[in-house]
Amino acid sequence: MDSYSLSAAAKINLYLEVVGDRPDGYHELVMVMQSVGLADRVTVRRILPHEIRLRCDHPAVPSDATNLAYQAAALLQQRFPKIMGQQGGVEITIEKNIPVGAGLAGGSTNAAAVLVGLDLLWQLGLTQIELQTLAAELGSDIPFCIAGGTAIATGRGEQIDTLHGLDGLYVVLAKAPALSVSTPWAYKSYRQAFADTYLDVATVGPTRQDQLHASPMMAAIGQQDGPAIGQHLYNDLEKVVLPAHPEVKAVKAALASCGGLGTLMSGSGPTLFTLTASQAAAAGIVQQMRSRYSESELGLWVAPLLPSSLQLIEP
Ligand code: C5P
Repeated sequence: MDSYSLSAAAKINLYLEVVGDRPDGYHELVMVMQSVGLADRVTVRRILPHEIRLRCDHPAVPSDATNLAYQAAALLQQRFPKIMGQQGGVEITIEKNIPVGAGLAGGSTNAAAVLVGLDLLWQLGLTQIELQTLAAELGSDIPFCIAGGTAIATGRGEQIDTLHGLDGLYVVLAKAPALSVSTPWAYKSYRQAFADTYLDVATVGPTRQDQLHASPMMAAIGQQDGPAIGQHLYNDLEKVVLPAHPEVKAVKAALASCGGLGTLMSGSGPTLFTLTASQAAAAGIVQQMRSRYSESELGLWVAPLLPSSLQLIEP
């Protein structure tokens, strides 16, 4: 095969708790991550020149070495120095549907798709664990994006413990097109405001993970209980992003009044989501929100919760 195309799904956080500072400068996190059916299409195609090329139809997405998808290919080229001589170079094409700077791991899922796509194209035979170890070098969310589905993520977010998938639930995603939030800004602001609440990660980090396992959220996920999951949605980063962006807070209030199972900001935002028990319920919420916000003011998407993140698309 000279080309592989993958559907690369967005993620949301059903739960995100900042535990404290790590010695590497990152934050120790305890999260529940979930793939959702809003996806980019990523294609890796063999080219003769021994180089990496990247094309993307979205004006806000760089096509140079600053793009995580490019870095994913460069990392494999560095780890397998002879591979381009044997297999040729690669052109990566990204067709963007996931909003950019949204807290939906769009860049991370593209990078995950390049790792998996190039593993196939260059016949590297890497295992999922090997792919996730490489992914962790590129970004904290990328190991989850390799596996997808429903998972607990700890450490920087790169330690993945996959859970039984959630069936039959949907989300409405909402993001103002003009607004994006920088993840480093969100964590820096959180540290400035809440460093005095940080726990000693070396001693308490593992305890927090155990506490999550014994939490009502995990019981709700284990029982596939949508209403209980909706009640226990939680994200620490809301505490800095919502006050800094009153328009996001207003959209959250509007979404929460539409009758879903629960509403939360995803990751470092600004995307908000409402969990629903059916596609029809999600469509009803979109209809209510459209009576308040025009398409130019607010992007709205209905997406099912997915059991995986990456899917090969048949040619
Ligand atoms: O790992 P990634 O490049 O996605 O992280 C982006 C930024 O988010 C980091 O540079 C850091 O500022 C912040 N971050 C953090 N703690 C984490 C994950 C991310 O402070 N666990």
